Amino acid sequence: MLDQLEKIKKQAQAELKKIKENSEIEKFRLKYLGRQGELTKVLRQLKDIAEEEKPKVGQLANDLKLIIAEELKNIADRLSDQGESDQVTKVDLTLPGQQILVGSLHPNTIIQNELEDIFRSLGFMVLEGPDVESDYYNFEGLNIPADHPAREMQDTFWLTDGHALKPHTSALQVRTMEKYGAPLRAIFPGRCFRYEATDASHETTFYQLEGLMIDKDISIANLIAVMKELLRAVFGRDVKVRQRPGFFPFVEPAFELDINCMICEGKGCSVCKQSGWVEILPCGLVHPKVLEYGGLDPQVWSGFAFGLGLTRLVMMKYGIDDIRLLQSGDLRFLKQF
Ligand code: PHE
Repeated sequence: MLDQLEKIKKQAQAELKKIKENSEIEKFRLKYLGRQGELTKVLRQLKDIAEEEKPKVGQLANDLKLIIAEELKNIADRLSDQGESDQVTKVDLTLPGQQILVGSLHPNTIIQNELEDIFRSLGFMVLEGPDVESDYYNFEGLNIPADHPAREMQDTFWLTDGHALKPHTSALQVRTMEKYGAPLRAIFPGRCFRYEATDASHETTFYQLEGLMIDKDISIANLIAVMKELLRAVFGRDVKVRQRPGFFPFVEPAFELDINCMICEGKGCSVCKQSGWVEILPCGLVHPKVLEYGGLDPQVWSGFAFGLGLTRLVMMKYGIDDIRLLQSGDLRFLKQF
């Protein structure tokens, strides 16, 4: 019986060396340690052998069982480590790289970022407001009461509860004064919504960039200086501008600052409605009533506000002749920036 065990030991050790896969481990276990396994069979005969031989044979058989179990565990560990390192070596560093998808900024975002930099350098905060705004901040607080004809200037998207999609970034003026008080310098770039019949120069969704500066003794000279700085920084060259009186209930006096249409060089096209000029910078001095709505004393504080047509500016800067392209999501268009 001892011979038998020695034979099994040698045979098992030789076979253990050949194991290369997990499936072979299980086969091996069954062959030696399973219910019909070779070692199990020997152990079962233990009861039939002479009493004095029992301890020795039993000891040897048990040792063998332990050795085999231990060795199988080592092999299993080694195979699983190998499995992991096999996976690592499956990455072939010599393969050509896969093309990465790289996006680009929307032209609107590019110009907005530029403008934010310019205004930050002039000491302005950059603020953002809600798209759904109350009647008070959209109109009332801007000196446009419910029956005022100026409401007709903006075809507004009304919600059933009296709120509206903000039709202009001016909606943030009173909120800003309430929150920050005076003195104050802020710009608020943002999305605006109007119930428009769309064409080359009108969209239901477009961007404005509002500016508000409140301090003591602010005059038209301050306003014009900042507007000039703005246009020079954006276009990097002299742009022909014209100034006209304008009308907005929240500024007094009010101006329209137009720039010479850069699509047609002033000859007249669909973007400038054949006039050669593009309304791009309505502005003026903040109306005393609006200062009051914002909680500021108009005897002490004065200020200017402007509502730059950001989308129009983007069109002028890049020579985009149809506003609808900007919201189209057309990759042929967007890839050019
Ligand atoms: N909110 C005005 C508009 O959308 C523009 C404007 C802003 C005019 C600030 C004057 C001052 O038409």
